[in-house]
Amino acid sequence: MQTFADVVSLREQVKQFKRDGRKIAFVPTMGNLHEGHLTLVRKAREEGDIVVVSIFVNPMQFDRADDLNNYPRTLDEDLNKLNAEGVDLVFTPTPEIIYPNGLDKQTFVEVPGLSYMLEGASRPGHFRGVATVVTKLFNIVQADVACFGEKDYQQLAIIRQMAEDLCLDINIVGVPTVRELDGLAMSSRNSLLSVDERQLAPVLARTMRWISSAIRGGRDDYASIVEDANDQLRAADLEPDQIYIRDAQTLQTISADTKQAVILMSAFLGKVRLIDNQVLDLTEPKESQEEE
Ligand code: PAF
Repeated sequence: MQTFADVVSLREQVKQFKRDGRKIAFVPTMGNLHEGHLTLVRKAREEGDIVVVSIFVNPMQFDRADDLNNYPRTLDEDLNKLNAEGVDLVFTPTPEIIYPNGLDKQTFVEVPGLSYMLEGASRPGHFRGVATVVTKLFNIVQADVACFGEKDYQQLAIIRQMAEDLCLDINIVGVPTVRELDGLAMSSRNSLLSVDERQLAPVLARTMRWISSAIRGGRDDYASIVEDANDQLRAADLEPDQIYIRDAQTLQTISADTKQAVILMSAFLGKVRLIDNQVLDLTEPKESQEEE
């Protein structure tokens, strides 16, 4: 495994692989790698001949300085894990390499509409930061395929839209969320939870399954489902942030044309904001209500 911090040497190596006719698969990450990331790496291995992983905690996508400062950084462990997975190239740039002129003078990429709604409404600038860094990383790595987790549902939708709008010559592959045994979606932020918070965390996924089963059971009073779900989160000592039940394709409110819905959830445990989502088919026959 080769590790590069600068753009020129990484590009040289990728060009060499491309001259040899190898297909490049890319996994962008912010590090603190867990099984969810390693699943992306394994998918990338299926998709390409050469796997490139980037590790970069992108300051442009953080709307809170404390969140950026507290983001877990575990470079040595990450490199060991990637080495064990047989990753070919790792790109570990500094903020100065990605943003040599600082954040204020950086040209940005913004996907209108999708970036301003839902999580984008409560985290101004977040998706601009994501779209900008992903575009830069795509231009640096020049991969044929890039793999992203479906756990960040809105992010994936934005990246797909951006790739289409900007005619990017890259295939975007979504990879299903990996969960702990108790149902908690894997996330780098889970490592910031205290022991007690970690015990409470699966309530988020459990509440999401309750919403899903309520809808599959025939309820379409989405606003009251959301209220009930917020009550369930509060009763379990989680602080609800956002719950949306939306059209899975457009992320707009559900209409008569909606075939698939997506439940998008976030809640705070202490300072840690956890997110999760689930897609469900509205065309399937309604089931009798399951008890959770
Ligand atoms: O999902 C993430 O880890 C980040 O948002 C990404 C795509 C690596 C961009 O910084």
